[in-house]
Amino acid sequence: MNILIADDEKGIRAGLSKLFERKGYDCFTAGDYDSALDLIRHREIHLALLDIRIGNRDGVDLLKDIKKTNPDVCCLMITGYGSIANAVEAIRSGADDYMLKPLDNDYLLSAVTSRLELKQLKNENTYLREKQKEEMLDFDFSTTHPAMIKLMDVADRVKDTDTTVLITGESGTGKEVLSRYIHYSSNRKNAPFVGVNCAALSETLLLSELFGHEKGSFTGAQERKIGKFELADRGTLFLDEIGDMSLDAQAKLLRVLEESSLERLGGNRTINVNIRVIAATNQDLRELMEQKKFREDLFYRLNVIRLELPALRERPDDIPLLAEYFRKRYSRDFRKQETFYSEEALEKMRHYPWPGNIRELRNLVNQSVLLSDSGSLDPLSYGGVQAKGTAPALTPPRGANLQEMVNNMVEEFEKDIIRKTLEKHKFNKTAAAEELGVTRKTLFNKISRYGL
Ligand SMILES: Nc1ncnc2c1ncn2[C@@H]1O[C@H](COP(=O)(O)OP(=O)(O)OP(=O)(O)O)[C@@H](O)[C@H]1O
Ligand SMILES: [Mg+2]
Repeated sequence: MNILIADDEKGIRAGLSKLFERKGYDCFTAGDYDSALDLIRHREIHLALLDIRIGNRDGVDLLKDIKKTNPDVCCLMITGYGSIANAVEAIRSGADDYMLKPLDNDYLLSAVTSRLELKQLKNENTYLREKQKEEMLDFDFSTTHPAMIKLMDVADRVKDTDTTVLITGESGTGKEVLSRYIHYSSNRKNAPFVGVNCAALSETLLLSELFGHEKGSFTGAQERKIGKFELADRGTLFLDEIGDMSLDAQAKLLRVLEESSLERLGGNRTINVNIRVIAATNQDLRELMEQKKFREDLFYRLNVIRLELPALRERPDDIPLLAEYFRKRYSRDFRKQETFYSEEALEKMRHYPWPGNIRELRNLVNQSVLLSDSGSLDPLSYGGVQAKGTAPALTPPRGANLQEMVNNMVEEFEKDIIRKTLEKHKFNKTAAAEELGVTRKTLFNKISRYGL
């Protein structure tokens, strides 16, 4: 973080720089009006300490000019008792605070630190929100499939209600994507969307994740922890893989849903929450119910609105639509121009069973755009395609493990880069080796290894 110190007294500039530099901040100093403004224009300044008089110019004017140039700079005025009136004017003109001389170092440090920390948190928050928004907008629900059209219609009609929604469908059909769509287009969109994967955690951890706990409520609970129910207050709680929740956890969840309140583990204060729950599963909850692994009362509580996402192979007309969406997206991401699918590639895709559903389609289009040499894409010619099964596309083909898959991908990349560089230099190996930053010997080895 960068601090500007604008003061016409050299001693103050030096003293303050030293104080802040010791705390790890970068300091820029200015002894007059113009050089202060110059620094604001040409450096990324986060906070400015401004003397209320700088040379024979008014510090409040400088403040106004700074705010005009970069309104994000946090400005603290330094003033003597004689100029309190100016300080008040400074606050009106956008200063964040003022400090009285003589300056108390500890007070000044803590004022500056807390402001910069707040600024950093705000930046992080904006960044995270933007990122989340990007993710939230990253879907395409265009469809010509009657059941899918109906499903989206139901989703649109219930999104603004508080009704619990149960989303079912095979792995990779977009259950999580749909739940995010519901949240971010609902009137809860400004509150958090909080997801919990019920299959990923042991029962104890899941409960403490959901309910939170008070300090010392069980071994290992060293701090108080706010649970996801509380975090999702006024927003949406997405309970993924709900079929994997233990019976005990199911009973506790049901109670929260019915009473809209809970107590943290080890706590006795009742906390009210206002949450909309969206649950998802790729298991058959009725079957689990018959096996006494899923509570009937919870099932009926969750199953108020049921959205069943069809498998991709059941809506073949949507395959080209989605393939086109991903092609555009990845072509833009990887800066590839003029990519397209050949008729045969599209035909193959329409008839392929897509055991990993949309996730598999997305991954294959991603790979084919990334690795294509020409504009024509044939996603199904890339590795990772399985004949038939229910595992998602990310599962390596039988016999290969993750490391092998990654190695293969890396080799494909390397080969591609080497070939392109060689072509560029008309197969002059010395020039190619130089551009690639490897020795001629390394390049020769790789050429013979890859049979280029
Ligand atoms: N409508 C869609 N538009 C764009 N991308 C989608 C869509 N549906 C799914 N995807 C993509 O497919 C991937 C899988 O989607 P998602 O995680 O929602 O599936 P899921 O049904 O929750 O799968 P699982 O049961 O394995 O958790 C996502 O990463 C997403 O990028
Ligand atoms: Mg999922």
